[in-house]
Amino acid sequence: MKGLVVYGTRYGTAKEIVEEISGTLKDENVDVKLVNAKEIRDHDVSVFDLIVVGTGIKMGKWTKESINFLKKNRNILSNKKVALFISCGTANTEKSMAEGQEKYLDNISKEYLTNKPIATGLFGGVYDPNVNHGLMFKFVNRFIKKELEG
Ligand SMILES: Cc1cc2nc3c(=O)[nH]c(=O)nc-3n(C[C@H](O)[C@H](O)[C@H](O)COP(=O)(O)O)c2cc1C
Repeated sequence: MKGLVVYGTRYGTAKEIVEEISGTLKDENVDVKLVNAKEIRDHDVSVFDLIVVGTGIKMGKWTKESINFLKKNRNILSNKKVALFISCGTANTEKSMAEGQEKYLDNISKEYLTNKPIATGLFGGVYDPNVNHGLMFKFVNRFIKKELEG
């Protein structure tokens, strides 16, 4: 079986997740190609049997390249086994997991896929206060630090 894993990431977490997913698929004898959604242009998606697509979430959004991948390949994906995953802070607590599943996986598959995905994966986010994620992160960071330090 040939598998394609396409991911969108802003801070690298989704990349770590797809490396794990690819390893697991390889162990199951799937011939895996791993591609950043930003570099998917020249790949022929139609040759794959299984396609895994996922992204980190920022301000409630998938990366635009990973959404564009779903939009552009909607017809091809309707004849394939498709699995979706996300990495987000909402998945970090038991209480908010259902919200993450609905907002970032179920709603996205309803909007962009013709058929239901064969699987969805909801992964937590890694919070690293020492990584500079830009202005918004700095702002949020101050409040998180305060909370953690009580
Ligand atoms: C600026 C910023 C905004 C974020 N917005 C959200 C959000 O709206 N919802 C959420 O569940 N997680 C949010 N997160 C947490 C990320 O989804 C989480 O860290 C994820 O692992 C990032 O994936 P990436 O490293 O592949 O980009 C945010 C993180 C940052 C730094």
